[in-house]
Amino acid sequence: EPEGDLAGSQVLVTAGGTREPIDPVRYISNRSSGKMGYALAAAAVNRGAVVHLVTAPTCLEPPDGVKTYHVKTALEMLREVMNLYQQVDVVVKAAAVADYRPKMVSKQKIKKNDSGLIIELEKNADILFELGQQKKHQILVGFAAETEDLINNAQQKVAKKNLDFLVANDVTQPGAGFGTDTNIAKLVFPDRRIESLPMMDKLELADRIWDEVVKLRYGKTK
Ligand code: PMT
Repeated sequence: EPEGDLAGSQVLVTAGGTREPIDPVRYISNRSSGKMGYALAAAAVNRGAVVHLVTAPTCLEPPDGVKTYHVKTALEMLREVMNLYQQVDVVVKAAAVADYRPKMVSKQKIKKNDSGLIIELEKNADILFELGQQKKHQILVGFAAETEDLINNAQQKVAKKNLDFLVANDVTQPGAGFGTDTNIAKLVFPDRRIESLPMMDKLELADRIWDEVVKLRYGKTK
């Protein structure tokens, strides 16, 4: 039997940046390395949880003891996350999901020509919003990567996506956000309470996030 304050819990973590194909050799993506999501998965295993990690492509090795599901696009991530949603107690969405995908995926490599190239994009589903709509017993934790107006944007996302709390990082700050081993975050709650955390290792932030989840879980009946 696993020990730890998440023993008996099934958690779902998403990580990495989705890749939206343009043609057989090109895609649109973002700067997520997967470090934040993988740290969350590793920390949850250490605390006794059954961990499902749905991950977009990264250069990282999945932590030991984690059930890993590899996806590439936002649509694939949506499908995998929805499949797992009913069986989990907690979802933490650290992935950077592409908001748009190319409307047409060319079957052949797009040839270079003398003029420019226009790629039409269409909207991807907002996975976290869907989870918020269908939330029953689950604790739902989002992230927000912002470059301006951090608190306002974060508070709007908490409400719109029906979250239990949100981890907001200003990705323009050195030592925060994409690719780094550290992060600087504010925990934003639905009652507008805000907890500002100092710069810390992503693994340490992961444990702070699980601390909050454990607090919420003890106050919540299944
Ligand atoms: O991977 P690292 O290099 O360690 O970097 C970590 C990180 C910067 C990626 C991470 O800390 C972070 O902020 N992740 C969320 C990035 C993001 O997409 O933020 P957003 O504000 O665009 O989205 C808000 C939330 O909605 C996120 O939880 C996101 O997973 C979710 N979302 C967004 C769009 C979409 N179509 N579906 C979603 O589920």
